[in-house]
Amino acid sequence: MTAARITVNGKEAPIAPAAPHTTVLDFLRERGLTGTKEGCAEGECGACSILVARPGVNKPTDWVPVNACLVPVAALDGQEVVTSEGLATVEAPGTPPVLHPVQEEMAVRGGSQCGYCTPGFICSMAGEYYRPDRCAHAEQGPDAAEGTDNADAEHGPNGFDLHALSGNLCRCTGYRPIRDAAFAVGAPTDEDPLARRRDQAPPAPVATEYRQDDSAFVRKGTLAETLRLLRERPDAVVVAGSTDWGVEVNIRARRADCVVAVDRLPELRELRVESDHVEIGAALTLTEIERRLDGTVPLLAQLFPQFASRLIRNGATLGGNLGTGSPIGDSPPVLLALEASLVLADADGEREVPLAEYFTGYRQSVRRPGELIRAVRLPLPQAPVTAFHKIAKRRFDDISSVAVAFALDVEGGTVRKARIGLGGVAATPVRALATEAALEGRPWTTETAEAAAEVLRGEGTPMSDHRASAGYRAAMLGQSLLKLYAQTTEAVPS
Ligand code: FES
Ligand code: FES
Repeated sequence: MTAARITVNGKEAPIAPAAPHTTVLDFLRERGLTGTKEGCAEGECGACSILVARPGVNKPTDWVPVNACLVPVAALDGQEVVTSEGLATVEAPGTPPVLHPVQEEMAVRGGSQCGYCTPGFICSMAGEYYRPDRCAHAEQGPDAAEGTDNADAEHGPNGFDLHALSGNLCRCTGYRPIRDAAFAVGAPTDEDPLARRRDQAPPAPVATEYRQDDSAFVRKGTLAETLRLLRERPDAVVVAGSTDWGVEVNIRARRADCVVAVDRLPELRELRVESDHVEIGAALTLTEIERRLDGTVPLLAQLFPQFASRLIRNGATLGGNLGTGSPIGDSPPVLLALEASLVLADADGEREVPLAEYFTGYRQSVRRPGELIRAVRLPLPQAPVTAFHKIAKRRFDDISSVAVAFALDVEGGTVRKARIGLGGVAATPVRALATEAALEGRPWTTETAEAAAEVLRGEGTPMSDHRASAGYRAAMLGQSLLKLYAQTTEAVPS
């Protein structure tokens, strides 16, 4: 066992004697920080949300809310976290703590009844409170912004993005008072210690070798060391955001002998826009990609808000979503439509594999033991007509029944090229090759769209399960193309 340590609410503590599979949630509660709650233990309720100091997008450090139930505490060796208990400030010994502005607004606006969900809401809200873009907006003052284009049903006059709370569930208060509190917070003051903390670099990643009995959590300092370790231990479970690991540990009681973290390796965290392609590091979080690309890949911009919740996107990565090989992952249909390829690395070097050739069966791929997804490459230029349709029971934070991504090149009223990625209709994500052929070279007309929709209804081998029947899935495929046609015909030159 090594001297792994974590800083919680400004105080450093050893991680030992927690077992390597211990989540941050269990670690905190074991130490009496019971504000962090367990609701679902699988990333769906947000009761366990905490703030982690991470490399920032617009400042050196961002306070990033994550689900503590999904993250191994050993993954935060050397890192800094803040829980709901750490947000209030004590101005003098013996005096009661002064509520954080977010806590204050939740209290005065009736945002809490039983209180179970409240600490999680508070942490998610605090993450948005400190988001630099929002702060710049809020500094103008709520009244100045009210009634402008920036305020709508999902964004407050103070710039607060309600999607920041999409991963937090409340079953008794109702969401309006919570929204009122979110839309009432101002900008942090200059004395606010967490606001000031953003101006300093976050803790550097530290190499970790945390062992107990026969199990270990390992974070190597370099990609080369990581790849050598994966060659020796091809059975190791590779984690970045740990969103899958947490579910396996909490719900399925899995205990991997060896867990290897790759989320802080610099080679997996680059984002480059070149003249002929965009390269996205496999371990960048979806939030980082979303904020760094800032809409320059419109199809990805459509995907992100529909990919789980902000809490999940703050940890989840493209590498993880592709690495698990799930047939209902949200990113593969989009990446298939964008003709992505994957850069796979092992101790001998790298190779590039088109995503269309990556999946070989249910949760199977061409990735060899010991191989890691290092990056995702998207060729440029992008097709001008793109859309992502996720059909699920809820609008946000749900698993898709069917997902369809389109990338069409329509020139002079004719479909020159069509790429369509599908999820949820086969054992793997697939391209809709027959539909692509039915579109290419044809005029982009109602007749073509209807004929191609009929072909699309027959793609894949959809099955019936608790989310949807096979017939419903097939029907949704066809509707998706008709919807695309209806949405785009006005914008496409004829
Ligand atoms: Fe529900 Fe963590 S306990 S998201
Ligand atoms: Fe009771 Fe939200 S206040 S669950």
